[in-house]
Amino acid sequence: MRAPVRPEGARQAAPRADAAGARQGGPPGARPMTVQDLDAVLAIEIRAYDFPWTRGNFIDSLAAGYWTVLRLDAAGQLLAYAVAMPALDEMHLLNLTVAPAHEGQGHARALLDALQAHCRAQGIVTLWLEVRPSNERARRLYARRGFRAVGLRRGYYPAPQGRREDAIVMSLALPAPEGGHALD
Ligand SMILES: CC(C)(COP(=O)(O)OP(=O)(O)OC[C@H]1O[C@@H](n2cnc3c(N)ncnc32)[C@H](O)[C@@H]1OP(=O)(O)O)[C@@H](O)C(=O)NCCC(=O)NCCS
Repeated sequence: MRAPVRPEGARQAAPRADAAGARQGGPPGARPMTVQDLDAVLAIEIRAYDFPWTRGNFIDSLAAGYWTVLRLDAAGQLLAYAVAMPALDEMHLLNLTVAPAHEGQGHARALLDALQAHCRAQGIVTLWLEVRPSNERARRLYARRGFRAVGLRRGYYPAPQGRREDAIVMSLALPAPEGGHALD
């Protein structure tokens, strides 16, 4: 992944919230991230990763105009967020994070839906990401979305005790936009 480096190293999965808990906040809304959101974002980021992004990573992403989205409950509490970097007709997913207490409720799928809808609207044809081999939960999520492993970056991520962990590079070919140039 290009800068800022995807932190990865997700911690042990939190217990799934039950269905009643999932309903407590009402239906989630979505909007782009702003600098004012960063305290709430970082509070989740440091719980979700052993090697979290810094505030500076998020500020740089916002300053660069990267695509961002937040998912919020009806009370405005932050549930999940994503950051992706566009480059011509490709998009690189840099950060996809769900608050540990709200995992297993479909928020990651919803974030990916929002990203893919944006990509379709922009004529973006390929979505890229990196994931740690040890992050089985995220790998399963991406595989179910149709992402395919296309490469390996050796020693890409920091790991505990000064070690390094490889990154699996995954990509997803997106359907051509309506009225696009698909061959028929
Ligand atoms: C990985 C992560 C984004 C998944 O978010 P989520 O909101 O729990 O995922 P969803 O509820 O949308 O579920 C999507 C898929 O994730 C997997 N999943 C969700 N909860 C799971 C659990 N408790 N155990 C195992 N797999 C689980 C499943 O494959 C699920 O699909 P399915 O329900 O159709 O089988 C979230 O766990 C997270 O933020 N982890 C820490 C940060 C991270 O690793 N981000 C990804 C970096 S590449």
